[in-house]
Amino acid sequence: MKKLKKEIYIFIRILICSTVFILLCNFNTVSAQGIIEKITDNLDVEPKEMVTEQIILTPSMPDSSTGIGVSWYSNTSSTASKLRISENSNMFNYIEFTGNNATATAATGKLSHKVSATDLKPNTKYYYQVGDGNLNNWSSIYSFTTGVKAGGDFTFIFVSDQQPKNQNDANTWENTLAQAMRKVPHASMVLSAGDQVDDYTGDDILQETQYTYFTQPEDLRNIALVPANGNHDNNRIAFFNHFNLPGKPSGVGAGGVEGSIYSFTMGDALFMVMNTNADLNSQITWLKSIANNSIARWKIVMMHKSLYAVANHLNDAVNDGSRNLLYPVFDELGIDLVLAGHDHSYIRTYPMKNNIRVNENIVDGYSQNPEGTIYLQTNGAANKQYDLVTNTPEYYTAKKLSGSLTGPRILYN
Ligand SMILES: [Fe+2]
Repeated sequence: MKKLKKEIYIFIRILICSTVFILLCNFNTVSAQGIIEKITDNLDVEPKEMVTEQIILTPSMPDSSTGIGVSWYSNTSSTASKLRISENSNMFNYIEFTGNNATATAATGKLSHKVSATDLKPNTKYYYQVGDGNLNNWSSIYSFTTGVKAGGDFTFIFVSDQQPKNQNDANTWENTLAQAMRKVPHASMVLSAGDQVDDYTGDDILQETQYTYFTQPEDLRNIALVPANGNHDNNRIAFFNHFNLPGKPSGVGAGGVEGSIYSFTMGDALFMVMNTNADLNSQITWLKSIANNSIARWKIVMMHKSLYAVANHLNDAVNDGSRNLLYPVFDELGIDLVLAGHDHSYIRTYPMKNNIRVNENIVDGYSQNPEGTIYLQTNGAANKQYDLVTNTPEYYTAKKLSGSLTGPRILYN
């Protein structure tokens, strides 16, 4: 994991300071009367604090090609939830959607807003603003691209375990995402396999502070995020408050927070997000109903705790029984790929079936429609990484990479 170049952040801060300075200079050219009117106008229409913050996009569901979900926080004076969308960068001919808001439980003086835009065109770039229609106070203009329809190609970015506890962690996460966005500039979404925040003690106020760190990257205003719930997210309501996701399917995932079990399609792929902190048996029933009723060519599961790990959590899935519980289900449903985190290191397994390695045909570095399920676990996206337990490959390990800089670095088999 490359460390953050602090210069980037410092440069941004300098840029912001410069912008403020330029605005002040411009005010000096306005007549005294004009300045008074301007200030009066501001008092009439703008609350004292920022109206929109922590804006996050999520794919529309069940079909990501038809819309977008947006969520954000505001102060309590901003009691309307509006989303404007336009195909023009100047917001010309915008269409407006209305959503709802609720008190953000632990964030003192904050409302959680959610708006969903529907009936949009697939694979199309849209510009948007969120804000308060009553106060006529809008965010900056950002953009997103709707998902592709069946038959269309797409790419996505996969991250996990940001767990920011402080500004330095937030900056590292921001840098990780920025580098990923540069490497995959046309990615359709960012999948995040859980532990978006660090506190697991039930301290909701502390967790809300950590969400301000998690939502810091400006890149998150311009690409859909797909979050799983991790053990550090701890099934707290802040997870549901921060992401515009559907509630849990009826009777599924007891013990899990709302918004932590859902599915959607992108192109020819069906994505199913599970909550490994919640009851798994009911999620297996749900998974079967979703996967068996889908005609998607590719079936992908994302969950926080990996069945096949290589670092601190090497034996967890054996000890807690989750490997034996879930791999037969993934075999039965023909799941192609299982994405996970939690182990703060990297592993790609061989295609696995019946908990045994099966052959694969690799062409130009890509596994060609393997007969089994590939389990892919990614490293922590900020400053928390683990060492490999051993530098010999496990029976399932095709490739592994220590999360930290001190352990064995890389192995091929
Ligand atoms: Fe975790």
